[in-house]
Amino acid sequence: MVNRSDIHYFGAGPAPLPTAVLEKASSVLLNYKDKGIGLCEISHRSPEANEILEDAKKALSTLLDIPEDYEVLFLQSGGTGEFSAVVYNLVSIWVEKKRAKIAAELSSSSDSEEAKKAEVVNRLRKVVDEELKLDYLVTGSWSLKASQEAARLVGAKHVNIAADSRQVNNGKFGNIPAESEWKLTPRGSGGPALVYFCDNETVDGVEFPAFPQSLEGDDAPLVCADMSSNFISRKVDVRKYAVIFGGAQKNIGNTGIAIAIIRKSLLPPISTPATPDLMRELNLSVGPIVLDYPTIAKNNSLYNTLPIFDVWIAGQVMAGLVDTYGVKKIGGQEEISNDKARMIYDTLDKYPDVYRVVPDKSVRSRMNICFRVHGGDSEKEKAFLAGAEKHGLLGLKGHRSVGGIRASNYNAVSIEGAKCLVTYLEEYAKA
Ligand SMILES: Cc1ncc(COP(=O)(O)O)c(C=O)c1O
Repeated sequence: MVNRSDIHYFGAGPAPLPTAVLEKASSVLLNYKDKGIGLCEISHRSPEANEILEDAKKALSTLLDIPEDYEVLFLQSGGTGEFSAVVYNLVSIWVEKKRAKIAAELSSSSDSEEAKKAEVVNRLRKVVDEELKLDYLVTGSWSLKASQEAARLVGAKHVNIAADSRQVNNGKFGNIPAESEWKLTPRGSGGPALVYFCDNETVDGVEFPAFPQSLEGDDAPLVCADMSSNFISRKVDVRKYAVIFGGAQKNIGNTGIAIAIIRKSLLPPISTPATPDLMRELNLSVGPIVLDYPTIAKNNSLYNTLPIFDVWIAGQVMAGLVDTYGVKKIGGQEEISNDKARMIYDTLDKYPDVYRVVPDKSVRSRMNICFRVHGGDSEKEKAFLAGAEKHGLLGLKGHRSVGGIRASNYNAVSIEGAKCLVTYLEEYAKA
């Protein structure tokens, strides 16, 4: 039998979890807090479940310094469901704003209420047709998928691909175009309904080094970021974002939940979404209720049955980081993540005849370290992976769409694990 302690796992998600959390999980699955029933058996509406939810929110808020005017939501959508959720929710807010503006312009008209209503819809149709834009920065396969989902939901003509990394990198992902090249929808009243980017591209190993400057400012657009694979791995200025989301199954917990951090001003009573009737009149799709942020927020993430066990795991993982890093909060984890990534990249760079890191140096992900062995020779890469397994280093195979090697350096990968990988990289290169 292979023991857990003999293995270092670099899977990209599902990913390793702290052993101490899993040990505790195995006991609470059988009997939670001496109640005689397990955590997967208790009601999501019980006081125990509520406490788990609040603890998880508190730990995340502490780690990321989430301001009071942001809401934390737990959803079952996975990261992919949030590709759709941000579109449904933010387009609906954009439409309602435009409707209110047109209605105000028509308020002094002497026409009947019915005639005015019809005129609002008429004008709104034109505004949607001509002005609705969703900006996407396509820097890898996940932001590409998100942009394709937006096009599926609202129509391709409303999706503005403001940047596409493949255009500056010989048709492949692996870099981020300079901001001066981005073609963002101009700000102001006709600005985009949202600007979307994926902070860390898991498949291509590309991470935004910092928040884009062109998305800053007092009149900044509503920025939505997918942080599925670098959530809680570095400091984040939450105020710069309208929505941050991510699936839990990489840095936070097990598969089953997604977390969204949303600016409260995008929720009622400050922002109201367009009514489903109006959206239908405009031929815009109406999202499923389980992706509706106002509904999920109003019900404290318990609109329907939330997998509380998954929330418990996430809460335990995050509370562990709060305890470990104290006043440094997520900055403490950031230092460790950076150190581990540096150690691995330095070793890869030391042997350019053997290893080639895939993405450009300026955008290398600290989380998903993607490289080729001997120029991508498939037999040699197979042998590299087989050798790694013999050393207890698992989960290193690159994503099926791109091949090669990918070492995912998530929070639960220990410094010792990173060192064992470095030792193997050295050994292999010298053999
Ligand atoms: C960056 C990123 N976004 C979205 C997803 C999709 O997440 P899910 O499989 O939970 O839908 C993934 C999955 O690996 C991902 O890495």
